[in-house]
Amino acid sequence: MLEESRQALALRPGETYCDCTLGGAGHALAIAQDLAPDGLLIGIDQDSSSLTEALLRISQTQLSFHYEILKGNFRDLDTLLLDARVVGLDGILFDLGVSSPQIDLPSRGFSYTQEAPLDMRMDPGTQTLTAAEIIKSSNTADLTRILRSYGEERWASRIAARIARSRATAPLETTTQLAALIREAIPASQRRTGGNPAKRSFQALRIAVNGELDALTRGLDAALRWLNPGGRIVVISYHSLEDRIVKRAFARAAEGCVCPPDQPVCTCNRHPILTTVSKKALRPTSEETENNPRSRSARLRFAVKAGETGAAGAAVG
Ligand SMILES: C[S@@+](CC[C@H](N)C(=O)[O-])C[C@H]1O[C@@H](n2cnc3c(N)ncnc32)[C@H](O)[C@@H]1O
Repeated sequence: MLEESRQALALRPGETYCDCTLGGAGHALAIAQDLAPDGLLIGIDQDSSSLTEALLRISQTQLSFHYEILKGNFRDLDTLLLDARVVGLDGILFDLGVSSPQIDLPSRGFSYTQEAPLDMRMDPGTQTLTAAEIIKSSNTADLTRILRSYGEERWASRIAARIARSRATAPLETTTQLAALIREAIPASQRRTGGNPAKRSFQALRIAVNGELDALTRGLDAALRWLNPGGRIVVISYHSLEDRIVKRAFARAAEGCVCPPDQPVCTCNRHPILTTVSKKALRPTSEETENNPRSRSARLRFAVKAGETGAAGAAVG
C-alpha cells in the first residue's frame, strides 16, 4: 500500500519523516521523493539485516535528502529519537510485521513451509527468547492462551495438548515438525478452509516471541507525541489484533471533552490530539493483491495531529 501511504503522509520538501519499520526501505525511498531535496528521513528497524539492505538501497538512490538510520525497537521510540536529537516529526509510518526477506530466509524460522529451527526472533542479536523456547518451557495452559489470544486459533487447546504429548517423548525444535503437529491436531474437516492450518499458530508464536502487541501499543503512544501539529501518521497492519490496537489508539486520541453533556463547564480538560481522517481502514487494490499476495490482509489507517491543518487525507480518505 505504498501509494496510499505516500498520499496519506503527504510530505512536503524539507519535512522530517520517520519510518519506524524500515525493512528494505521500499516505502521509505518512495516517500523520501516528497521530502527531497533537504528533508530528513529517519529509518528505524530492530533487525540488522533489514538495516543493511536498507542502507544499500538508500546509498544507491540518486535522490538527495538527509537520512539517519537507527537500530532499535520502536517500543523505545522516545529514547531512539531523543538520542538522535530529533525535535519533532511531520510524518510517521509503521508497516508492521515481518518483511518478505525475513519470511523467505528459512533460517529465521518464520515460515511453516521450510524446515528450520523454531526461532522467529526479529532481532536475533539482542533477543534470547525463541519460539522453540516457548514451545519447550510453557505449560499447556500458557500455550493454549498464546495460540488463542495471539492467533485467534479455535483449536488452541487441541494443538497445545498435541504439542505437550509430543515434547514429552522428543524435543520439538523445527518449523516443519511443529507445522505437522498442528495439522494433526486440527480435525480433518476443518483443515480444508482458511489456508495452511499452521498459519494462525505461527502468527501467535511470532507475536509472543517479539512482544509485538506491547511494542505496537507503546510505539503508537510515543509516535502521537512526537508528531508536529498537522503531522500525519500511517499504520499498515496485517491482522485484526494489530488493527484493533491502532483503531482504538486513534479513537482515544481523537476524543475531545468527556464531561456529561448537561455539565455547563468542562472539567475534564480533554482536547483531541488527533483528527482521525480515515473512518475505515483502507484495503489494497485487487491489482496489488494479485502482484503481491502477501498484501491481501493489509489494512491501512491514518490520522492527522491536531494543530496546523495537515495536507493529508483529501486524496485517500
Ligand atoms: C513489513 S516490513 C517493512 C517493509 C518496508 N516498509 C519496506 O517497504 O521495505 C516490517 C519491518 O519492520 C521491522 N519491525 C517489526 N517490528 C518492529 C519493532 N517493534 N521495532 C523495529 N522494527 C520492527 C521488521 O524487522 C521488518 O524489517
